[in-house]
Amino acid sequence: MGRISIVVALLFCALTCVAIMHAEQARDRDPAWMAPSGDAQRLNPLTSRPDVGAGGARIYRQRCSACHAEDGGGTPKAPDLTAPDVQA
Ligand code: HEC
Repeated sequence: MGRISIVVALLFCALTCVAIMHAEQARDRDPAWMAPSGDAQRLNPLTSRPDVGAGGARIYRQRCSACHAEDGGGTPKAPDLTAPDVQA
């Protein structure tokens, strides 16, 4: 999966994640969590849209990087989004 695909995928989860963040304080991640099998098989329909990826990158920098770091590598506040288990 390319970097743009990752950014687009992050954009997809952005609204859900922000809603969760509003609902409760940050907590430790659950390393045993797995995407439901049906969802794990889904393909990103926007991989051929670099413009969408660029928009997602901008939103990521504004709304996510404070905790997950500019490169998604994580900080003490939030997990590494580039880790294979997170990508899976
Ligand atoms: C206030 C700090 C904070 C901000 C801002 C934040 N996150 Fe997070 N995020 C966390 C923490 C803490 C966790 C781990 C706890 C959890 O999974 O509920 C997490 C978990 C995640 C995960 C799951 C990672 C895993 O281990 O499976 C994803 C994906 C994610 N965030 C994406 C985003 C995106 C996209 C944004 C921006 C829209 C964002 N986060 C903004 C703190 C933050």
